Amino acid sequence: MHIPKHHPGWIRGLQPTPEELYLNRRRFLQGLGLAAIGGAGLPLLGAQAAPPGSGSSVREIQGATGTVTQQTAPSDIYPAPRNEKFKLDRPITDERVAARYNNFYEFTVEKDLVWMLVEKFRTEPWRIEIGGLVEKPATVDLDELIRAMPMEERLYRHRCVETWAMAVPWTGFPLSALLKEVQPKNSATHVRFVSFLRPEEAPGQAEDRRSPWPYQEGLTIAEAMNELTLIATGIYGHPLPKQHGAPIRLVTPWKYGFKSIKSIRKIELVDHQPATFWNTLIPDEYDFAANVNPGKPHPRWSQATEWMIDTRDRRKTLLYNGYKEFVAGLYG
Ligand code: MTE
Repeated sequence: MHIPKHHPGWIRGLQPTPEELYLNRRRFLQGLGLAAIGGAGLPLLGAQAAPPGSGSSVREIQGATGTVTQQTAPSDIYPAPRNEKFKLDRPITDERVAARYNNFYEFTVEKDLVWMLVEKFRTEPWRIEIGGLVEKPATVDLDELIRAMPMEERLYRHRCVETWAMAVPWTGFPLSALLKEVQPKNSATHVRFVSFLRPEEAPGQAEDRRSPWPYQEGLTIAEAMNELTLIATGIYGHPLPKQHGAPIRLVTPWKYGFKSIKSIRKIELVDHQPATFWNTLIPDEYDFAANVNPGKPHPRWSQATEWMIDTRDRRKTLLYNGYKEFVAGLYG
């Protein structure tokens, strides 16, 4: 990702950090507020909510810098059944490498340091507001949302605009399932996603006061309703670690990775193309659509090939990241 001139940081380079980590899962019983708050909608959510204290798991990564506690979540959700419709053409990326090579500018611009800087970030309780041009706006607790939605696992390729790539199993639900619940009005043309603003927990936000925080992204309604568009709450069969965008993020695998906004607080239906973080900062380099296209170079580098972050294998980049059969119809 290009660093704007005013940005205090710089990118060290496209090199994952080969450090040891091991994963330790343990039970963590805690009562969580599961009731929907505000809004008349989402009857499905209310109907399927689990009782408070029904059990959740906490996951920790222990490494050189100590223990990073991650999102708790209902322990019976993960791993979710895999949807075999979505096949990979390459091996799944090593989880340890993916967990230590992240873009999450709220914490730092250095990809190999994000995982060490997320400890203060509170991801629970976490409520998501779904509103704007919908018949049934709602604010829901993450746990309740997870229990109400059709959770599944999907193997997807991920292509960053910077040319690195990975292939990972996400756990989540189609965004279309949530949109059907809130019932978009006919006047809605786009969906706007908004992340968090907490400089006291996120050192990157604290240091960089000039970027247009909170991170925002957007899709057209047709893109949002496409079957590929996933809202992810998990990865590698467990809840999302903070560095991957806990507790809930977007995944649009035919677009460059910057569209896949992490740690979503608000989903809003609107009647215009919403402003987005990178498009606002550098419109000439990061367009709103951001569809993966090997034939359209970035102004400063080729997009013809990509490299896998664990094996360093270099591969030819595919149009729409190989998802043409799903999305070509969206673009005529
Ligand atoms: N979401 C937020 N809120 N902040 C970010 O900096 N970076 C984006 C995207 N979502 C980003 C974000 C970019 S550039 C990429 S490539 C992916 O997250 C990286 O996801 P990963 O770290 O889980 O691999």
